[in-house]
Amino acid sequence: MCGIVAYVGDKPCRQHIFDGLLRLEYRGYDSAGFVCVDNKSKRFCCHKEAGMVDIVKKMSETVTCDGSIGMGHTRWATHGIVNQVNAHPHFNCSRTIAVVHNGIIEGFEKIRASLIKEGHEFCSSTDSEVAAHLFSTLLEKNKSISSAVIALTQKLDGAYALIYMLESHPDKLIVIRRKSPMVIGVGNNEMFVASDFLAFSDKTNQIIFVPDDSFAIVTKDNVAIYDFQGNLLNVKIDTINATYATVDKQNFEHFMIKEIYEQKHAIMRTINFFNTIGSMVSTDNLNESNKKNPLITHAENNLSLWRQLGVTADQISTLKTINLVAAGTSWHAARIAQFFFEMIAKIPTHVYLASEFRYMPLFVNKDSLFIMLSQSGETADTLEALRLVNSLDMQTIAITNVPSSSIVREASGFLPMQAGPEISVAATKTFTSQVASLYWLANRMAYERGMINLDQLKIAQDDLFIAAEILETTLETNKLRITQELAPYYAKFDKFIFLSRHINYPFALEAALKLKEVSYIFAQCYPAGELKHGPIALVDEHTPVVIFSVLDELIYNKLVSNAHEVKTRRGHVIAFAFEGQTELIDAADVAFIIPRVNPLLAPIAMSGIMQFFVYQMARELDRPPDKPRNLAKSVTVE
Ligand code: F6R
Repeated sequence: MCGIVAYVGDKPCRQHIFDGLLRLEYRGYDSAGFVCVDNKSKRFCCHKEAGMVDIVKKMSETVTCDGSIGMGHTRWATHGIVNQVNAHPHFNCSRTIAVVHNGIIEGFEKIRASLIKEGHEFCSSTDSEVAAHLFSTLLEKNKSISSAVIALTQKLDGAYALIYMLESHPDKLIVIRRKSPMVIGVGNNEMFVASDFLAFSDKTNQIIFVPDDSFAIVTKDNVAIYDFQGNLLNVKIDTINATYATVDKQNFEHFMIKEIYEQKHAIMRTINFFNTIGSMVSTDNLNESNKKNPLITHAENNLSLWRQLGVTADQISTLKTINLVAAGTSWHAARIAQFFFEMIAKIPTHVYLASEFRYMPLFVNKDSLFIMLSQSGETADTLEALRLVNSLDMQTIAITNVPSSSIVREASGFLPMQAGPEISVAATKTFTSQVASLYWLANRMAYERGMINLDQLKIAQDDLFIAAEILETTLETNKLRITQELAPYYAKFDKFIFLSRHINYPFALEAALKLKEVSYIFAQCYPAGELKHGPIALVDEHTPVVIFSVLDELIYNKLVSNAHEVKTRRGHVIAFAFEGQTELIDAADVAFIIPRVNPLLAPIAMSGIMQFFVYQMARELDRPPDKPRNLAKSVTVE
């Protein structure tokens, strides 16, 4: 992952770089670094350290050197432990070339070994340092910077966004992009470069998205972009109006708990916004009374919705399969949504893990639709899967929470969720907004395909809002009990088993992931029917078993049997049950009782308590729930 921010212009760069780094913290928070060509000494001045927010704040107070060209880096460690030496920037032997890197240089070990043979001395154990030493040898062998860059790109494999600064050319940033994102902001006698334009969104809205497999020579008043063969590219400047909003915790202790509480509104905002999409595109063909009724307006205006999604109504009617591609929590949302598309819209649906997708056989089918699901819209695995599908000319839709993201730009159509910025690394409100978005879309498709009528469409939306309401009210009713009694007790266990069936099995996977992420407690999740096929050997009084119920009578009864299987082996059961499910409630040691909802929306209704429970466990164990160790909010490496 990692975040990069750089500046060249006629102003001092230091404060801008530190501010930008803080904005890019979501890309990694293992270490931070800064380098500029110092105005006084005309030499590189570099500071770097392990750690993030505190370090950047400390540096911005203590670092005194400044210059009109500089860059900074926030690291998510891939190669080399988290320490000061492995922090970026990295330098060549004579410290006249500085580089920052986002991505992974594949096969760097071989290049490093041959550079060492040539006499280069390495300080760090990163893949990135290779880029500094290699470039210095290529600069010596080539006549121009451009030809050295071209030679470099022929030697480096993998994914990289690199920025070089040369002490000998203190007017230039050399920006190279292969797969990892890079944007340039065009200012007045100044240029900004970053992994994400939010780093400089308060400075300019004139943006150049550096194309994949290209490099740019950036000076304060010019940007020249070339492909890796050295051909000059004509790249347009886009105007982007999104701004970086400083989001604060308000009165909450952490962003995670604030975001857990925001879910009801995030879902409602998202669905209400989706309902306006049709009319945003066109309301011309609607009569006045329809314009006043949002549901009728948009149901009848489905055509405009399909246009926004880059498909036709005919394609939706004749669709043979849907493929959902995602990673992590988004993959769990996709697995829940498989039930929506298959049960409501009657469309066979496959769900793929983005990181596995590219290595599986892919059958080109023009009656197939791909939905790429990603909160950030930047996840490298999902982006690469999207590129593969695009290359085969199949239809793609992106559903993300970040409308300016790479995945949105590259998909044929998109649905922008309105969950609002999610700062906590563990996804909460974006997960439930994804589930809600996909439920809404499945119903819209079902309507288009004649599977449901307008009344049923309206009921579906009402059900969604009821589930969102229950998410919040059940959280409120169980809050004290979890905080005072349950979290302190369960935080003492060092492993958990999570079980469920049907639509709540992927939800149980999400619960287990959330517990692992924020509390570092080991959790294993199984479809409850699999328990007897092996995992039951793990059941004992030291391993709480969390069971999420479902609202299908037949499946519920099977879950009750699973609860008894656990109890008879001295296991300890925590049940998430629905009102009236007395058999499960009685069998459990602890039960959360949730009002009944539309059975397909059980994951939304149960999310609030589940997330609050794991959040409180993290607090009990003194973990930092907003920034768990080893993680980053946006995973831009494969
Ligand atoms: C877990 C979490 C991750 C992300 C995953 C995909 O809380 O947030 O598992 O879901 O890295 O990220 P997006 O959705 O941005 O593609």
